[in-house]
Amino acid sequence: HAAPILTIDGPGGAGKGTISRMIAERMGWHLLDSGALYRLTALSALRNGVAVDDVQALSDQAHGLDVVFAVENGKMQILLEGDDVTTEIRSERVGGAASQVAALPPVRDALLQRQRDFRQAPGLVADGRDMGTVVFPDASLKIYLTASAEERARRRQLQLQQAGEDARLSTLLEEIQARDARDMQRSVAPLKPAEDAVELDTTQLDIPEVVERIETLIAERN
Ligand code: C5P
Repeated sequence: HAAPILTIDGPGGAGKGTISRMIAERMGWHLLDSGALYRLTALSALRNGVAVDDVQALSDQAHGLDVVFAVENGKMQILLEGDDVTTEIRSERVGGAASQVAALPPVRDALLQRQRDFRQAPGLVADGRDMGTVVFPDASLKIYLTASAEERARRRQLQLQQAGEDARLSTLLEEIQARDARDMQRSVAPLKPAEDAVELDTTQLDIPEVVERIETLIAERN
């Protein structure tokens, strides 16, 4: 494996998606949004009437995922069986189901090779929860991105407002805390920093500041 990897792990809402996309673009590297694979597995299960506790059927959904990540006018488009689900997989309903199916070892196993296949020259930015700990333990640089739960709830509310949706801050905070607890307490691939990860708290940083800090770290490693 020659292609270098930058992993960006951390809890939901810390800014991993935006930061990963910007760095991949600036470096000309590929991008793996691993959370999207769990969301797609969950959505596929929901659409096919598979119960969130039917482990065998869920792992079959994960194995058989027919998904295309396409770039259309500079925007990432995600197709599930040819159907554009880019917006639908971001809903709270799908996110909640994703975090449930992600706790099942057979589902994680089913998605492992699919994630490693994203490693291609000239390099990869991998965004998720276990990119540095499980999927790419030999990554050249591992970032663990965090922000306080309150700040993440505030950012999520802003995002929803921009999409014309309304949500109470207290409800969002509760959802974020429940998701954190589930991701951190699960027995397989729990959310935690890799031993050799650089931790970056973004509570007080804006996006350009985070990008700059990570680019400085990349430059230092080369
Ligand atoms: O990052 P995102 O919010 O899209 O991820 C959705 C869910 O998928 C997370 O709540 C988490 O439970 C799960 N996930 C995971 N491992 C990853 C990425 C996401 O378990 N590498």
